[in-house]
Amino acid sequence: MRLYAQVKKDLSASPKTWLVTGVAGFIGSNLLETLLACDQRVKGIDNFSTGHQHNLDQVRLLVTKEQWARFSFTKADIRDEDVCQDACHDIDYVLHQAALGSVPRSLENPQLTHANNLTGYLNMLVAARDQKVKKFVYAASSSTYGDHPGLPKKEDLIGRPLSPYAVTKYVNELYADVFSRCYDVKPVGLRYFNIFGRRQDPNGAYAAVIPKWFAGLMAKEKIFINGDGTTSRDFCYIDNCVQANIMAATATKEDSFNQVYNIAFGERTTLTELFNHIQKRVEGLVDNYIKVAPTYRDFRPGDVKHSLADISKARELIDYNPEFSVLQGLDQAADWYFKNLS
Ligand SMILES: NC(=O)c1ccc[n+]([C@@H]2O[C@H](COP(=O)([O-])OP(=O)(O)OC[C@H]3O[C@@H](n4cnc5c(N)ncnc54)[C@H](O)[C@@H]3O)[C@@H](O)[C@H]2O)c1
Repeated sequence: MRLYAQVKKDLSASPKTWLVTGVAGFIGSNLLETLLACDQRVKGIDNFSTGHQHNLDQVRLLVTKEQWARFSFTKADIRDEDVCQDACHDIDYVLHQAALGSVPRSLENPQLTHANNLTGYLNMLVAARDQKVKKFVYAASSSTYGDHPGLPKKEDLIGRPLSPYAVTKYVNELYADVFSRCYDVKPVGLRYFNIFGRRQDPNGAYAAVIPKWFAGLMAKEKIFINGDGTTSRDFCYIDNCVQANIMAATATKEDSFNQVYNIAFGERTTLTELFNHIQKRVEGLVDNYIKVAPTYRDFRPGDVKHSLADISKARELIDYNPEFSVLQGLDQAADWYFKNLS
């Protein structure tokens, strides 16, 4: 079995050139941070639609000057074919993260989600083919399981998508599969399950639940839980997700590419449990904090009720071995949000 620590050491000894799309976003900036810390050369593109310059500024402060000098950034949009061709030139590995997240956003504006997540994605896949990149690792999503009731989720059993966002992520997988069979492309899809951690944006109408609740509780705001609180998710700390990307890109097993993998921790937490875990951490950090109760409201259309991943396929084929449990990840995230929001 390949160990992540060893893979990082090997990379540092023999640097590669990586392209991270959506590099100014939450997951993209965390990929950048680890790759630069491993002395890799990184190209990044982002159109700042949901990403931020301050995420890049923060990474700059976390790496050495020499490491930062190995990063080149272009503000650009993957809906432009030429941008994607230029970006993929002389690249070993692509980590494609650029997309518009959020189920509600896609229900409000399906065309915009389609243009970014499908047209943009296809431009990237074509460019990866034309520029002969070694591996094309892309952000897929657990939303692809749709209305399939089975738990834990196994990669080959999916239901009907519940939102335009889920459609785009599923079609990404179909394109990847066809490209791997029709052309010399090696795609790997990572079906992320609720990733959380430092630099995840707490602001805006489409913010994810963990940063939103950390920020809300620290600011003493009212917290809403959609549904009765029993809705559950397989929350996964960002460092596990970064590991999955690096292990997927560098995996050498013949049957490790042209695959999709669940990327999660493999444990289920209900929203009420999550609220209590977050409140406990905020209570430990904020002086004179007074505990509050959440407000329950209607379940949100397009959301799945329960989510739990079987991660055995990723463990077996790309040697994914998540190092942070949900509680360990929440400890790390709490410290970060406290330092950066208060
Ligand atoms: N965070 C999660 O829990 C989660 C779960 C499942 C899938 N994903 C997928 O992971 C990827 C990264 O998500 P994230 O949470 O970091 O979101 P994010 O919004 O923080 O990052 C996405 C980045 O892509 C950029 N971007 C969007 N459209 C672009 C375009 N047309 N051209 C160039 N850049 C563009 C945004 O500006 C942003 O910086 C996305 O593909 C998302 O769908 C995330």
